[in-house]
Amino acid sequence: MRVRKVVFPVGGLGTRFFPITRAIPKEMLGIIDKPLIHYAFEEAMAAGIEEFILVTRHGKDSIEDYFDYMFSHSDYFNIKVGSICYVRQNEPKGLGHAVLCAKNLINNEPFAVMSADDFILHPESCIGEMIKRYNGSNMVATMSVNRNEVNKYGILDIEKEEDDLVYAKSVVEKPSVDEAPSTQAIVGRYVLSGEIFEVLQNLAPGVGGEIQLTDALLEMIPTCGLVGFKFKGQRFDCGSKKGLLDAILHVASNDDNLKQVIDRFYER
Ligand code: G1P
Repeated sequence: MRVRKVVFPVGGLGTRFFPITRAIPKEMLGIIDKPLIHYAFEEAMAAGIEEFILVTRHGKDSIEDYFDYMFSHSDYFNIKVGSICYVRQNEPKGLGHAVLCAKNLINNEPFAVMSADDFILHPESCIGEMIKRYNGSNMVATMSVNRNEVNKYGILDIEKEEDDLVYAKSVVEKPSVDEAPSTQAIVGRYVLSGEIFEVLQNLAPGVGGEIQLTDALLEMIPTCGLVGFKFKGQRFDCGSKKGLLDAILHVASNDDNLKQVIDRFYER
């Protein structure tokens, strides 16, 4: 099924990176010379996405400035004028609310959602692999996490597994270690039915008083289903300091020039 549009929720406060994120959006934090949002764009473009919708907020102007520059430098990105839109999320009411803010730009067609701070190195575009497998059921990227970390994620209750797909009979946002139905966790890549907006706009706040995308996925399971894609690549949680540093070191170690710096560091 064709998926033409992606939503990037970039309205988060980035509290784990205070004070730098008081003035710099966390999506603009760099992996060496490119910001996180740049990598997410590359992954979406490799998947054939044509329209890029950023759900932004006060203080995130540098993201727009960055893409203004990208438009005039096609050696970085070859995107058509008019293919990026910005919509504001005026209150930090959660991921589900951020996605809902893009409703009028989607028009009831399937679309992708990507969190730039989930940096994924995948042999193919992770979101592209998901779009290839998308058959109308809501789809999320998943990975197995340590049981003591389940309370940071949406966790699937698995009905069956087939190759790289897991079929969920339920899903729960940030469960306690005791209540988690599995350790199969959602990471920030989604391919969603346009019908999710109806559900999101009637959803009560969930965990943390926020409108949770996971709660909308749960409500749609009887009508639409929910499938997890167990991607093969490496994922870095660049919403955390350790994850960002890990990603930087990983990228640097794959670059002959930069790798020398890492080698020298260990020789000290
Ligand atoms: C969000 C989602 C959660 C998902 C996670 C992946 O949580 O609500 O279901 O597992 O992203 O990164 P957040 O990290 O924004 O609290």
